[in-house]
Amino acid sequence: MKLAIIGTGYVGLVAGVCFAEAGNDVIAVDVNLEKLARLRNGQLPIYEPGLEHLFARNAREERLIFTDDLAHAVAHSEIIFLALPTPPGENGGADLKYVLGAARDIGKLLTADSTYKIIVTKSTVPVGTVDKVRDAIAENAQSEFDVISNPEFLREGVAVDDFMKPERVVIGIGDGSPDPHRAENTMRELYRPFLLSGNPLLVMDARSAEITKYAANSMLALRISFMNDIATLCEKCGADVDKVRLGIGVDSRIGRRFLFAGTGYGGSCFPKDVQALIATGEEYGAPQSILEATESINARQKTTLIPRIEAHFGSDLSGRVFALWGLAFKPNTDDIREAPALVILDELISRGALVRAYDPEAAEAVQKQVGEKYGDKLCFVKRHYDACDGADALVIATEWPKFREPDFHYLHELLQTPVIFDGRNVYELETMKREGFIYHSIGRPVVNA
Ligand SMILES: NC(=O)c1ccc[n+]([C@@H]2O[C@H](COP(=O)([O-])OP(=O)(O)OC[C@H]3O[C@@H](n4cnc5c(N)ncnc54)[C@H](O)[C@@H]3O)[C@@H](O)[C@H]2O)c1
Repeated sequence: MKLAIIGTGYVGLVAGVCFAEAGNDVIAVDVNLEKLARLRNGQLPIYEPGLEHLFARNAREERLIFTDDLAHAVAHSEIIFLALPTPPGENGGADLKYVLGAARDIGKLLTADSTYKIIVTKSTVPVGTVDKVRDAIAENAQSEFDVISNPEFLREGVAVDDFMKPERVVIGIGDGSPDPHRAENTMRELYRPFLLSGNPLLVMDARSAEITKYAANSMLALRISFMNDIATLCEKCGADVDKVRLGIGVDSRIGRRFLFAGTGYGGSCFPKDVQALIATGEEYGAPQSILEATESINARQKTTLIPRIEAHFGSDLSGRVFALWGLAFKPNTDDIREAPALVILDELISRGALVRAYDPEAAEAVQKQVGEKYGDKLCFVKRHYDACDGADALVIATEWPKFREPDFHYLHELLQTPVIFDGRNVYELETMKREGFIYHSIGRPVVNA
């Protein structure tokens, strides 16, 4: 099939590459000329495991091309995906200016001789957006089109796998669809190769599809915040949240995933999607109080290590050096949007500390975002051990796999004082005790060497 993807970010690029891999012809459009130049040069602008070789193959075989020419993309495609940003607006609700702007531009390009097009909202958008996109296109369109919702559930870090083998595909058909069966059948055909293992394609009304995406992310965020609240209780009463996690996770009604306590969730989705669903609830007079609590627990959790650091070193950290392991909001990505590590970094530096940071993929993004602001208070190192050489303490903010089994003896030697503040509960308490560390983690007793 002939597809256009508008927006080549984490979602648009992965979707474009994977659709091309299934044999479709994909024209990917972006307004960021620098990004387009890199893509045309064969360079990926993001780190995403498994993406590189699929990207290279499909670009080489010309099933995937990159352009800023929207008119060309619209003219040569049957399905047009909108994979554009939906950042929080003033009241926390999703700002639809990119999505509706692109919809208007597409409408102007649908002239009387254009063929039938399906425009798909792949961005995470609030309930009612399919209707708004339809209206925005209809302002100028002179040919037949449909608008449907197809929210994306991929996870950064495993995005290629998630896209190639989705647990489900959700298709939302709007009330105003001129031919719901045609739209549904076209989407079934497109997704057939991705669902060969039998996972479902769920067809529903557009409003339910739009809410489904927000409800999924919000449910996962609330599980994390719930466990973080339980972790705080465990700390106060001398229990161990990791044991509680195992104890409840084996219950099939609960399940094991998204039950890890830590320094809170971040990323480009959970924080903004929770906020947006709260805003939608307000708009419709259906307050989402559980999500308001989810959000405030998460804000608290991002700084939860700071009082422990202050209790150990005092509130003035001038002259202290902290090794910081992990900057990305989670392992296996270079995405630092809303990363808890950035909050920790800021808290440390504002108390006078120097931070030596290490991340396998995200250092460049952090340098770009805050390097100038922090100047020589922040430096980056190439090996995780280098961050610890002579440091007063090690802080762990992201659980990259390589942090799991360090040479503890070497680490102990490198650190000025053997103190670890672990925001991701990476190590066993027994190991820390045996290796002679003072060890603070989340929701577990402190190890005092
Ligand atoms: N990142 C994720 O893990 C994820 C997962 C599921 C859903 N989503 C949703 O998908 C949407 C996109 O997210 P993302 O993380 O890919 O965003 P992103 O910021 O990584 O990428 C968006 C891209 O759109 C481009 N763009 C902006 N305006 C444009 C225009 N008018 N025409 C063409 N390109 C334009 C930007 O230059 C950028 O390359 C959001 O709604 C997000 O909530 C994201």
